[in-house]
Amino acid sequence: MAKQVREPGTYLYPLPVVLVSCGVGEEANIIALSWVGTLCSTPPMVGIGVRPERHSHPLIRDVGEFVVNLPTADQVRAADYCGRVSGKAVDKWNACGFTRAAGVRVRVPLIAECPVNIECCLSHTISLGSHDLFIGEVLAVHVDEAVLDEGGWPDFARLAPFLYTGRDYWRLGERLAPAGFSVKS
Ligand SMILES: Cc1cc2nc3c(=O)[nH]c(=O)nc-3n(C[C@H](O)[C@H](O)[C@H](O)COP(=O)(O)O)c2cc1C
Repeated sequence: MAKQVREPGTYLYPLPVVLVSCGVGEEANIIALSWVGTLCSTPPMVGIGVRPERHSHPLIRDVGEFVVNLPTADQVRAADYCGRVSGKAVDKWNACGFTRAAGVRVRVPLIAECPVNIECCLSHTISLGSHDLFIGEVLAVHVDEAVLDEGGWPDFARLAPFLYTGRDYWRLGERLAPAGFSVKS
């Protein structure tokens, strides 16, 4: 195996793609993000990396709340669009045919058409360089009953999330094995 040694860069693949809704009332906006992840289980916390020059940045910082909405593979065009145009110029809700839905713990609207919506309040902000890391504590999660399996867990075949490589979007492939299978006899 011949490996190249490269300059430092963002090589952690694959990336999730989420649609973060932010702002309230007429100002409410949507931004596509991939610099995102789960950071803590108890309390549940998520981190999102947002460039200060994004229109969404002050909406998240000033309102102190945001919602992480998980798009499906069928929504890849809308997700790409929300990551290519600015809410400064376009109403992305109208452009994508998305409906605002009320949250139960935050004032920021949820995207009704996304099967999972994670309501967050901003708990920490850390300036890292090109991006600010907004860390949100999860206050409530909405899951479409149609994507749940018999045990009440999200069924990923029905949820149909997609991944990003920095160049392309990919569907999930086949299920490999149940978790914990390596230590089961
Ligand atoms: C798939 C995808 C992922 C993106 N991830 C990020 C990200 O993690 N952080 C960021 O600041 N911008 C990210 N962007 C760029 C913003 O979504 C884009 O600049 C957007 O137009 C900003 O919208 P706004 O000006 O309405 O806030 C991403 C774009 C795409 C298409």
